[in-house]
Amino acid sequence: MEVVILPGSKQIASLAADAVEALLRRKPGAVLGLATGSTPLPIYSELALRHERDRLDFSQVRAFALDEYVGLPADHPESYRQVIAREFTARVNISPANVHVPDGAAADIPAACQRFEDAIRDAGGVDLQLLGVGTDGHIGFNEPGSSLASRTRIKTLIEQTRRDNSRFFGNLAEVPHHVLTQGLGTILDARHVILVATGAQKAQAVRDLAEGPVSAICAASVLQLHPHATVLVDEAAASSLR
Ligand code: F6R
Repeated sequence: MEVVILPGSKQIASLAADAVEALLRRKPGAVLGLATGSTPLPIYSELALRHERDRLDFSQVRAFALDEYVGLPADHPESYRQVIAREFTARVNISPANVHVPDGAAADIPAACQRFEDAIRDAGGVDLQLLGVGTDGHIGFNEPGSSLASRTRIKTLIEQTRRDNSRFFGNLAEVPHHVLTQGLGTILDARHVILVATGAQKAQAVRDLAEGPVSAICAASVLQLHPHATVLVDEAAASSLR
């Protein structure tokens, strides 16, 4: 695992966008793994800028979201299908048919999770997975206690995560309790993983994931086992590193 400490989110966005750009110039049909949440937003803005300004081409890209809420209609503004389109994929030339999000409205949840895993495999696997990290160390929505070998499945959000995400919904009661998420085993299959974290509220999670034991208590610590994991943090998020 390589940890890079940068002055702020602008520099993080620029470095992460450089990695995406280098991949697309080498492999125009690359498979991207996309995180939602606030931290990656400057990366998506930087990529949208490079698409407009430098003609960075996404026409052959396939993309897979990390997770989705269960029980929100697909057209709900906070469903991750909507968020990922609004914040990124609709701002570049990725074909909507090439953007895959777990189906949180499916009647048969295990079948929907299997279809999602199959779609990743059929695309040839994820080349570059972008990740944020929760204050409890989750990646995707693999909350503390998640199996390190898990695949896409339904999970229950812990109260801390629901509280953290209530800022998107107006109030806590609106935040779904359940999600579909890529498993830790699914995430580990990506060929390169870039995790981004900013702000002092992420300092403990960053310390645990980079310096703690590999443990399901901090799901992100599993990235210590990944052969090509890059962690981009600002100084506040790095402030508890030894
Ligand atoms: C979102 C996701 C989550 C977030 C994490 C951090 O798709 O998988 O793991 O990355 O909750 O969210 P922010 O960046 O909003 O602090």
